[in-house]
Amino acid sequence: MDYVKVERRDGVAVITIDRQPALNALNWQVLDELSDALDAVASDAETRVVVITGAGDRAFVAGADIEAMQPMSVPEAREWAVLGQRIFSKIESLPQPVIAAINGYALGGGCELALACDIRIASDRAKLGQPEVTLGITTGFGGSQRLPRVVGPGWARQMILSGDVLDAATAERIGLVNAVVPAAELMAEAMKLAAKIASRGAVAVRLAKRALNVSMDADLETGLRFEAEVFGECFGTPDQKEGMKAFLEKRKPVFTGKW
Ligand code: HXC
Repeated sequence: MDYVKVERRDGVAVITIDRQPALNALNWQVLDELSDALDAVASDAETRVVVITGAGDRAFVAGADIEAMQPMSVPEAREWAVLGQRIFSKIESLPQPVIAAINGYALGGGCELALACDIRIASDRAKLGQPEVTLGITTGFGGSQRLPRVVGPGWARQMILSGDVLDAATAERIGLVNAVVPAAELMAEAMKLAAKIASRGAVAVRLAKRALNVSMDADLETGLRFEAEVFGECFGTPDQKEGMKAFLEKRKPVFTGKW
């Protein structure tokens, strides 16, 4: 792969988008490679947590590639939006939790990529926004749907309708990112959180992500039913036996992550 690298370490897969001359902007090839990388980690039982970041110190992803989009026809633009949406939905439905380590600009499609992740941590140099209207277009990779779910309708409308780009502190204040850390510590902080999640009961973590995803779309009754289902499923796993036994024996659990 030319633009997307995957490194695996201690149960954590780090996916890095590396197209630095264009501030990691997403063209067809980058999206294709990202899709392949996601398929690979999804089926890798050893991978407990995924971290997605951008290469270099300037950008996470500065958006979809404007040069590539400029000549698109109406059907081509629709197809492009659907392609990106499918790949970002893959992130959302990946069995493992995904942390976005936002190391710089996360604009347009870059912000939408971060929004499809479970958790967002930003460097103090990050800037986030949906500047599509400044180009005469709308969001297309899910921003109009996921941003309100993350920050609420008020800020989502302000960001998407104005095209304003937010600094990291503002992004943290409105809940767009969970934490802001000094740029030099971003990857260490992301890996620390990834390691913590990776140390938990892996089946429980995966099932919890599924239940959280259901909460985004289902009515409360359906969501509660689903929660009871996955809660019950945990009790068929060795990790539930071990986790509760270890608590009662006042020791740390040794999880296997087996179903
Ligand atoms: C293509 C991009 C790009 C992008 C940056 N570059 N963003 N190329 N698509 N989205 C390229 C520049 O053209 C330039 O190439 C190089 O990266 C460095 O960028 P500069 O502009 O010279 O850097 P700087 O002055 O520091 O400004 C950084 C920036 C600016 C503020 C991030 O690049 C910018 O505004 N970029 C566009 C951000 C944006 O509007 N994103 C949303 C896109 S729409 P050269 O060859 O000149 O060195 C979108 C829609 C998603 O994402 C949904 C689709 C369905």
